[in-house]
Amino acid sequence: MKGIILAGGTGSRLYPITRVVSKQLLPVYDKPMIYFPLTTLMLSGIRDIQIITTREHQHAFQTLLGNGHQWGINLSWCIQEEPGGIAEAFSLSEDFIGNDHCALALGDNILFGNGLTRLLQSVRTPKPGATVFAYRVKDPENYGVVSFNDQGIGIDIEEKPQKPKSNFALIGLYFYDNQVVKIARDVKPGLNNEKHITDINQKYLEMGNLQVERLGRGFAWLDAGTVDSLHNASAFVRSVESRQGIKIACPEEIAWYMGYITNKDLEQLADNLMASGYGNYLREILMEQNG
Ligand code: G1P
Repeated sequence: MKGIILAGGTGSRLYPITRVVSKQLLPVYDKPMIYFPLTTLMLSGIRDIQIITTREHQHAFQTLLGNGHQWGINLSWCIQEEPGGIAEAFSLSEDFIGNDHCALALGDNILFGNGLTRLLQSVRTPKPGATVFAYRVKDPENYGVVSFNDQGIGIDIEEKPQKPKSNFALIGLYFYDNQVVKIARDVKPGLNNEKHITDINQKYLEMGNLQVERLGRGFAWLDAGTVDSLHNASAFVRSVESRQGIKIACPEEIAWYMGYITNKDLEQLADNLMASGYGNYLREILMEQNG
């Protein structure tokens, strides 16, 4: 399975902060935002990941992440010249996807919760169709919204409806079989001349091939696309990390936990990060394991 992170867009909802810096490089407490979707894909067991950015910001992302080999993954790069919508990602990354299944993570989505790794690894196993995740929110009108029938099966999806039929938003993490490439090609641009991801999900729903997993109370799903949501996401990460002494979305730790890098690799990564305390954390998890 291949992974794609969409980290393009103008970030205009965060102006002036994002006038010169990409939204997905802004800090969410102690890490760049893109670490969050990246580690979500890593926890799913996906190691071939393409990152879609604007031309303007690609270099900064490459400086931060390189080819991913330091974390035992392969990163490749792609440019979205114009904000053409989320569904365009599959056309931009068509060669990269090849005949594979593929997961798409939006660059400003943060997912955390008990049992997340287990859940991600279960959906990662290639099966026909699509799997998406629904999460209860207070303001569904700002998202893709899914409603369910009495048996809890998703029956209807709408993008940012004025009158939402449910409180369940679809989060920015999608798993698709290879049909997505063809389906995305056929999506017609809608509002703002963008190709909407909801149209892809709608198509899978019509085909009877859309699995909607509901994330319950034990999960936190945050997006960080506005000033307030970015601040809230930072505060959330800070609360959990400082209370528990663990890090959320730490790619070095996850690479090590997944067995992609050795103890020695982790030690070397830690050495380069000592000034901020981040390196100390990596040293500590190593010491804890070694008793
Ligand atoms: C996009 C999708 C929407 C989804 C949301 C999740 O909206 O169009 O369906 O619920 O991401 O973050 P955007 O944030 O691009 O407006």
